[in-house]
Amino acid sequence: MAREKWRSGLGFVLAAAGSAVGLGNLWGFAYRASQGGGAAFLLLYLLVVLVVCLPVLVAEMVLGRSTGSSALIAPEKAAGKNWSLMGWLFVIAPLGIGSYYAVLMGWTADTLLHSIFFGLPSDINEAEAFFGSISSGSSVLLGQLVSLFLTAVVVSAGVRGGIERLTKWCMPILFALLIILAIWAATLSGTWEGYRTFLLKWDSSQFFNPTNIRNAFTQAFFSLSLGIGIMISYASYLDRKNKLPKEAIGVASLDTAVGLLAGMITFPIVISFGLKEAVSESTVGALFISLPTGLGSLGFTGRIVAILFFSLAYIAAITSSISLLEVPVSSMMERLGWTRYKAVFVASSLLFLLGLPSALNLNILGKMDSVFGGVLLILGGFLLSIFLGWIVPSRFDQDLDGSNSNLRLRKYLKFMLRWVSPPVIAFGLIVSVIDLAKNWSS
Ligand code: PFF
Repeated sequence: MAREKWRSGLGFVLAAAGSAVGLGNLWGFAYRASQGGGAAFLLLYLLVVLVVCLPVLVAEMVLGRSTGSSALIAPEKAAGKNWSLMGWLFVIAPLGIGSYYAVLMGWTADTLLHSIFFGLPSDINEAEAFFGSISSGSSVLLGQLVSLFLTAVVVSAGVRGGIERLTKWCMPILFALLIILAIWAATLSGTWEGYRTFLLKWDSSQFFNPTNIRNAFTQAFFSLSLGIGIMISYASYLDRKNKLPKEAIGVASLDTAVGLLAGMITFPIVISFGLKEAVSESTVGALFISLPTGLGSLGFTGRIVAILFFSLAYIAAITSSISLLEVPVSSMMERLGWTRYKAVFVASSLLFLLGLPSALNLNILGKMDSVFGGVLLILGGFLLSIFLGWIVPSRFDQDLDGSNSNLRLRKYLKFMLRWVSPPVIAFGLIVSVIDLAKNWSS
């Protein structure tokens, strides 16, 4: 059967940006930035995106487009059987992330429904009790199940009919909601204090703090959906004529803009309502507790803002979760010759089962996030930079030659991919593993 293709280049960019923009931008960015890094975290994060992630993003897309294969098969198709393990990493990582991502989506949906039908908690104690109720028992399983079901419906409709169609509608709505909310947040009493505390406060010692370094690497790779096979899968449905470097810059810019805009919403709220401690003591649930509490004190306006914010979060999340499901689905279709429906059914059932420990235990969810959503992605990024920079470098040139993209930009990307990304990512990986091991039991 002929492989599907995106209807348009814009469709691909929006789908890739839809994968990138997700709960990681709204929730991960806020909680990582509030762990004391402030502007140092932000600068580290931007540096990692520009210096190492951008070349790897193009490399991952090149691997997908030039092989026209799923993430499982692409590495061995490009460089032989010895590299098949790398393909497995690209299937295991999205399964690991997808499993707990659906749990987070369930919490988001629950909070949204609660804001619509019952209103918001009036103080932090009530909010904690509310969070306890959505993150345990049957409601967490129901939220996870419904989220996986919706994801499966979109993915089973295919690349054009499902993924491209959904992201084409969702991304503009998401941007509109973000801008409306950022403007509203700019009118709050704690706006400047919020921007300053989290985004502008500079302390140079934080620049060398291993936790901030790990946070910056993790946030950059997680937020860009990079190093995990997603961009391989999405780019495998691309035409030769798309100018990949330009499209990768588009995706990275959209993703970074959303992270910053989201920070401009969450931080003023957190400061204006005296919730700083609640967020920086940060467990994965901090935002689900502090944001509704802050908004709760604003009465009707707060409720409307909460409804908009959690709708935005859910839209962002589903355009990411479909990409997480597409990786195992396209791999099963290609390797096992299954139909899309069968692969979607098996892969989403697997995600549900793998997600059960995270659904039932917050601590496990946090650990899954650190390992799958952190270290494994950085490892994937490292392998990709070695693979396309050193093992099959001609593939990078040949593929980009075909699309006639800007020569200077290509030279810069190739140089960074070979000489800068591997050592810098290796450094980030080592710091992250050590820092993770040190904080494992805390
Ligand atoms: N990039 C998404 C986010 O920021 O929420 C999450 C994600 C999707 C991470 C896909 C990794 C991934 F492969």
